[in-house]
Amino acid sequence: MTLHARLAELATLGATPAWIDRALFTAAERAARERFVAWAREDGLTVEQDRAGNVFARLGPRDAPPVQCGSHLDTVRDGGAYDGAYGVIGGLEALRTIVANGDVPARPLEVVAWAGEEGSRFPLGCLGSSVYAGLTPFDEVAALVGDDGETFASALHGPNGLLGGVFVRDGFPPPAAYVELHIEQGPMMENEGARLGIVSAIAGQRRFRVIVDGVAGHAGTVPMRVRADALCAASEIVLAVETAAAAQPETVATVGHLIVEPNQTNIVPGRVVFRIDLRSVDDARIAAAEAEIRARAGEIAVKRGTGVSVETLETRAAVPMETRMRLLVRAACVARDPHAIAIVSGAGHDAMCVAQVAPTAMIFVPSIGGRSHVGDERTAPADLELGVEALAATLLAVAESGIGSDLAPGAS
Ligand code: GLV
Ligand code: MN
Ligand code: MN
Repeated sequence: MTLHARLAELATLGATPAWIDRALFTAAERAARERFVAWAREDGLTVEQDRAGNVFARLGPRDAPPVQCGSHLDTVRDGGAYDGAYGVIGGLEALRTIVANGDVPARPLEVVAWAGEEGSRFPLGCLGSSVYAGLTPFDEVAALVGDDGETFASALHGPNGLLGGVFVRDGFPPPAAYVELHIEQGPMMENEGARLGIVSAIAGQRRFRVIVDGVAGHAGTVPMRVRADALCAASEIVLAVETAAAAQPETVATVGHLIVEPNQTNIVPGRVVFRIDLRSVDDARIAAAEAEIRARAGEIAVKRGTGVSVETLETRAAVPMETRMRLLVRAACVARDPHAIAIVSGAGHDAMCVAQVAPTAMIFVPSIGGRSHVGDERTAPADLELGVEALAATLLAVAESGIGSDLAPGAS
């Protein structure tokens, strides 16, 4: 099947034997966007990009806002082959199915490869979809500095940025509606024996940068009682983050990015900079955990004689899926899987941003062993196919419905 062949080919881009690294505007990520463009054209779709690096493949005329689907082609560092890629390649496959079946959608359909969803190069995620939805000004994203010191703007205009030979669309016109197909990335569906998931809401998230300033010194000569070891203080704060999240129901927090300075075996750490990722489907629980983390960080710094600052990097409220869209997704899923379940997404998605400008829903397929953001991320091929079928049916039903028809013709 084309779906599997394309996913397999995409999985070679940025691949090592153990995982995939395809950060935004790197050679591997550009190659993935190029493959997407070539496949879309092969399928008879019209391809455009916008100046944030998002790529659009359209079936149908340009005279009305489309019903969109899509996801992202970038990966986390040491990531897998399906997070994001499935929604993009599955979107192409859904449009191929629709055309092959002789179905004529009532509105144009579009597949989008959103730029930089993962935040694996620049400090924020959902970059392209956030600009598209008007949540973050383009200039603010353009000024972001990546882990390698290069700005988004410089990478966008560099050799691995905007694609040659692809029309650059003016502005960021919203779609009539948006449906994102994605792997679950957790164990719930497998545990429940569900092959399709109807997403009810996407968890809210906040990200913080914490800077702990201690005093660097000689590892052999500075007595323990006079030290202000930044890593020891940071370690205590990391444990306080864990405790604060665990105290709230269905709330998670992670410290997965940490820089120790000067990072030398024989020097007491002078500074630690780390990021906190805090999520819950209930924004009040996020707020309560944040308040606790800030209070504990202050106490720990005083106790250990270090400085500490906690800066908010990103705030995204929990996003419920739109009711009419969810019902159409539900009908498409239940018709194909009697065990389909409603499910909350703990992971973030471009759908969180697009939902601010258009009625939005999501379809999940199971992840084997609940594994994701790792090299052995897998979904059964038959489940991948079923998800595409549900997406194709949903796109046709949404196009047929009046959803999004209040948008002015020509707004796209
Ligand atoms: C993206 O996958 C995220 O949830 O951080
Ligand atoms: Mn994803
Ligand atoms: Mn991801």
